[in-house]
Amino acid sequence: MKRLIAFLLLVATAPWCMAASEYEPLDPVYINLSDTASLQRGARLFINYCLSCHSAAYMRYRRMAKDLDISEELLKENLMFAGDKPGDLMRTTMPAEYAKDWFGVVPPDLTLIARVRKPDWIYTYLRNFYLDDGSPSGWNNTLFQNVAMPHVLYGLQGSQRLVSNSSEGDGKRIFRLEKPGTMAPEEYDNAMRDLTNFLVYLGEPAKLERYLIGVFVMLFLGGLLVLSYLLKKEYWKELH
Ligand code: HEC
Repeated sequence: MKRLIAFLLLVATAPWCMAASEYEPLDPVYINLSDTASLQRGARLFINYCLSCHSAAYMRYRRMAKDLDISEELLKENLMFAGDKPGDLMRTTMPAEYAKDWFGVVPPDLTLIARVRKPDWIYTYLRNFYLDDGSPSGWNNTLFQNVAMPHVLYGLQGSQRLVSNSSEGDGKRIFRLEKPGTMAPEEYDNAMRDLTNFLVYLGEPAKLERYLIGVFVMLFLGGLLVLSYLLKKEYWKELH
């Protein structure tokens, strides 16, 4: 029996151990879907910097505005491409054939990316672009070697060079900022947290409602418990 348990434990943990050793260390990010201001800032970054290449084609502008408390005027004036309507899906304006010509791959839809890649991965990815003279776009990424995506946020983060990578040496990545951007490093980290927060929301918008439903369900069950107890007392009264 003991041997069986040991075997089952081994089988259950083996894929996890293997997966862990395959990946680089990720920087943890604090996700908070009830932080509406953070989600709004993330939405603005996403629409200004990502939607030109990537779609979020399972989300409609109107649904996003409603969930994130964004007024329809603000949505129309600042957060939508000219010609789009609030009921439209969040599609990129870049035709897939052009993208394939320019980048060699079509930028993937990002609606579900935070579920596929996980928040820590995205947060680390967005902060780990570095200058690489050998790559076609001039950029590379420690999490995604030879990535076809250029560092579209370098104006904010600035441009950095990789001094040492985690696969070599002491397990730490070290960058050297060559040209600062418009944001200080902590400011950029916070902005990437907002953007990652928004991508998590995008992958599971119903999560916001689910939290609320969960609270109602617990209250309902609590009430039911009290009623059942009183009922039980009532039934057993005569028998004692
Ligand atoms: C200039 C076009 C362009 C812009 C703008 C752009 N990307 Fe990308 N992105 C790409 C391309 C091309 C790829 C595919 C990379 C590859 O497969 O090598 C990609 C890949 C990615 C991936 C990895 C997807 C995977 O395969 O797991 C993520 C995450 C991502 N982009 C996020 C973003 C975010 C967030 C923004 C906005 C800050 C953004 N991208 C802006 C072109 C772009």
